[in-house]
Amino acid sequence: MVDFETVVKTRRSIRKYQDKEVEDEKIDKILHAAMQAPGSRLGAEPWEFLVIKNKDTLKKIGEIKPRVSDAPVAIILLANMEKSFYKQVWQQDMSAAAENMLLEAVNLGLGALWNGVAPIDDRMQKIADIIGVDNENIKPFCIITLGYPGEGFENKFMDKYDESKIHYETY
Ligand SMILES: Cc1cc2nc3c(=O)[nH]c(=O)nc-3n(C[C@H](O)[C@H](O)[C@H](O)COP(=O)(O)O)c2cc1C
Repeated sequence: MVDFETVVKTRRSIRKYQDKEVEDEKIDKILHAAMQAPGSRLGAEPWEFLVIKNKDTLKKIGEIKPRVSDAPVAIILLANMEKSFYKQVWQQDMSAAAENMLLEAVNLGLGALWNGVAPIDDRMQKIADIIGVDNENIKPFCIITLGYPGEGFENKFMDKYDESKIHYETY
């Protein structure tokens, strides 16, 4: 466990992973963190999660999102629009869960990457086809890849703070 400030400040996009399995307990914790996220309506969260470790499936997805190919595990975030109440904000709901997952990964000593899928229709459809989703109410949103950081990648502080982006009282 890392303290919260360190987790937030050191999170980086980790695009390469060691050839080492991610423990199921850690995947479980990441899924728990995801579902602690805020949602636009309590009890109507659209999120569902597909955990993939199968190398052939990862390679197939990698043809669309290259960073997925060599990850030990990928979690596809799917929005179930039948569950969603405020449907216009489904992507915000999904994003909140995604960010929680990235942060929990850092907390567990892992590296993670947000691989964008939505809102590109063609990409969403290709991912849906690979994973066997045949229902237009189930929308692939993004893919979080996870693993122990590989060569050249580590979670470390990079100062992204920019004072010029802050406004007080009036714009
Ligand atoms: C909506 C979204 C989509 C992203 N999609 C990708 C992606 O497809 N591939 C990738 O390598 N990184 C992707 N990223 C990660 C960003 O490139 C990364 O967060 C940004 O460069 C800042 O670097 P940092 O995460 O290390 O702070 C995505 C991030 C977000 C929020």
